[in-house]
Amino acid sequence: MTKKSATAGKSVRNVLWLWWKLVVVVSLTLCVLAFLKLQSYSELSSSISSRFRPVDYSGNPKVAFLFLVRRNFPLDFLWGGFFENADTGNFSIYIHSEPGFVFDESTTRSSLFYDRQLTNSIKVAWGESSMIQAEKLLLGSALDDPANQRFVLLSDSCVPLYNFSFIYNYLMASPRSYVDSFLDKKDGRYNPKMSPYIPISKWRKGSQWITLIRKHAEVVADDDAVFPVFKMFCKRRPPLEASKGKKNMKLQKQHNCIPDEHYVQTLLAMHDFDGELERRTITYTEWNESVTNMEKKGWHPITFSYADAGPVQIKRIKDIRNVYYASEYRTEWCRSNSTLVPCFLFARKFSRGAAMRLLNEGVVSQFDAASIMYSTP
Ligand SMILES: *[C@@H]1O[C@H](CO)[C@@H](O)[C@H](O)[C@H]1NC(C)=O
Ligand SMILES: *[C@@H]1O[C@H](CO)[C@@H](O)[C@H](O)[C@H]1NC(C)=O
Ligand SMILES: *[C@@H]1O[C@H](CO)[C@@H](O)[C@H](O)[C@H]1NC(C)=O
Ligand SMILES: *[C@@H]1O[C@H](CO)[C@@H](O)[C@H](O)[C@H]1NC(C)=O
Repeated sequence: MTKKSATAGKSVRNVLWLWWKLVVVVSLTLCVLAFLKLQSYSELSSSISSRFRPVDYSGNPKVAFLFLVRRNFPLDFLWGGFFENADTGNFSIYIHSEPGFVFDESTTRSSLFYDRQLTNSIKVAWGESSMIQAEKLLLGSALDDPANQRFVLLSDSCVPLYNFSFIYNYLMASPRSYVDSFLDKKDGRYNPKMSPYIPISKWRKGSQWITLIRKHAEVVADDDAVFPVFKMFCKRRPPLEASKGKKNMKLQKQHNCIPDEHYVQTLLAMHDFDGELERRTITYTEWNESVTNMEKKGWHPITFSYADAGPVQIKRIKDIRNVYYASEYRTEWCRSNSTLVPCFLFARKFSRGAAMRLLNEGVVSQFDAASIMYSTP
């Protein structure tokens, strides 16, 4: 009897012990699940909150000027003159400079640029994927202001060729982005290793200097699927260096790709936005085709000096009305919302002397000495 009750007691204890173990295991599992769920919620909500942007905006639209500069902003005096004739409610300025560089009275002559640097800027290696990362950061910051409806990417050597109101009206009149984008047949920059992610049929080439509508700016700023593929497979081949001697042979066999001439174009094509673009750039670049033996084969942008920036040369650029794309046998007549317009609103690369000349000759504003002097009484 005692023995029996003892075994009975033992089995009751065993059952209780099993139950206890079960309860512990189940509650631990629930805890872990709840934790994971919480984790994924907070991840989700943080990504949603950083990407939550108003859809409709009915106020006065702004043009966001996004300047990608190396350090300071050498042509600030010209842009200062340009923005002087604008309405402050019609534009905003964002600058990506090197991390820690601050625009204030000691670094710029124009108060419009004070504190306009991004606080999350990164170190940029020119021609590498950090450059497109910087563009994405500029777009991301500018998207925080719902009034920004057009996004113009410019470099520290770009100049405006017209006054503010002309440029503002030109950009606002069109519901399309201006993205130079064409088929890239002969360069071999497409890396076949990209094919699972980026079909070759969507591979595009074009100028880095783009102007986007808000919808396209969001796609570029938020993309975290195509950018990593570029980072991995679209890399610039190191330039030829005499000091590397025979090693050059091997280096020059590496796949060569220039991310900033392909990323936005290819990304927008992958989203089937080709039909929503004016497929040209509004920033003029003059190319020097001559090739020096040790330098990389190809074209170099010419820098305009004071002597090259006279009225005749500037008029020649402003009079351009179409662009020919040899790889597509396409002549692009420049349009803004189906009206024929001048192709170029901006130009690069300009030295300080050349920019000074534009300012003096009243290219960006009418209220200057030259126009007063030459006006007939
Ligand atoms: C701006 O430039 C355009 C075209 O060059 C000109 O017609 C217009 O009068 C200028 N406007 C101002 C406010 O300077
Ligand atoms: C500012 O924007 C308003 C409304 O879009 C426009 O009518 C005005 O001409 C713009 N001002 C300038 C200087 O472009
Ligand atoms: C574009 O042109 C069409 C037809 O001419 C016009 O109805 C529309 O308002 C224009 N869009 C803009 C943004 O000016
Ligand atoms: C074009 O490039 C060559 C070689 O680099 C140089 O000597 C020449 O001055 C350049 N021309 C212009 C107009 O910049």
